[in-house]
Amino acid sequence: MANLIGVGIATLDIINSVERYPDEDAEVRAVSQRICRGGNVTNTLVVLAQLGHHCQWAGVLSDEPDGARILADLAHYQIGTALCRTIEGGKVPTSYITQNQQNGSRTIIHHRDLPEFTFRDFEQIDLASCDWLHFEGRNVADTEMMLAHVAKKSPALPCSLEIEKARPEIEVLFKYAGTLLFSKKYVSEQEDNDCPESAINFLETSHRQFPKKRMICAWGAEGAYGIDQCGVVYHSPPSPPANVIDTLGAGDTFNAAVIDSLINGQSTAEAIKNGCRIAGQKCGHIGLDFI
Ligand code: FRU
Repeated sequence: MANLIGVGIATLDIINSVERYPDEDAEVRAVSQRICRGGNVTNTLVVLAQLGHHCQWAGVLSDEPDGARILADLAHYQIGTALCRTIEGGKVPTSYITQNQQNGSRTIIHHRDLPEFTFRDFEQIDLASCDWLHFEGRNVADTEMMLAHVAKKSPALPCSLEIEKARPEIEVLFKYAGTLLFSKKYVSEQEDNDCPESAINFLETSHRQFPKKRMICAWGAEGAYGIDQCGVVYHSPPSPPANVIDTLGAGDTFNAAVIDSLINGQSTAEAIKNGCRIAGQKCGHIGLDFI
């Protein structure tokens, strides 16, 4: 068991399941609706907590009823929230999600109107008992200051960084984290191609630029790719369930399983295999309560 801190967001997810993805301007009836907590970093922490780790979330909350709902969900998984900043009168980021029952795809419309967790918030955290820090790649200027602070004050503390979306200047963060977790979306946009060779090419090119890092990309139905510090590329096949029913949070689950393996001293090859296995298991269940 390790002590982890995750820096990033929590959201309210309003998930409508539909028989098939609607045409534009159509009016359709949802088959069911589910409202729950989401957000990449808190999703990752919820899976890590179920894998036996002691997790704390560092992010921003709002003191409104949906903020209380988020706190209750995190408390259910024993995820600490003492490091969070609470904003009076704000509104939690909200995702309106259409889940297609035909293939489990999830289309997200996200609304956000809450300040980000800042470097000033982060620098107050005592990192002495932390074994692993995980960051969402967002709010680039402040996240860079946070990562630089860790590199200076706690250089031995392992850090992972999730790069899900291309955001201005996000590449400045790469040099700080030992483990970089890229999404297929990010890599295929960089490579202008979503074939598996793009993942390999991206990892090899990035390794030449950042040779001391472990870099991983989940590649959806084609599994995942990873490169270790020696520049060896590994592939793991996917591990799909018999029926894919919910892919929401599958990438966050993959990241959690990779981090769990690395904390346990496993190799890059073992970590991506574990990532595919647990993310596959997740896709056969609704939500993240599946371990
Ligand atoms: C899934 C997710 C959702 C959230 C959205 C935020 O990865 O974290 O739970 O609404 O992405 O971008």
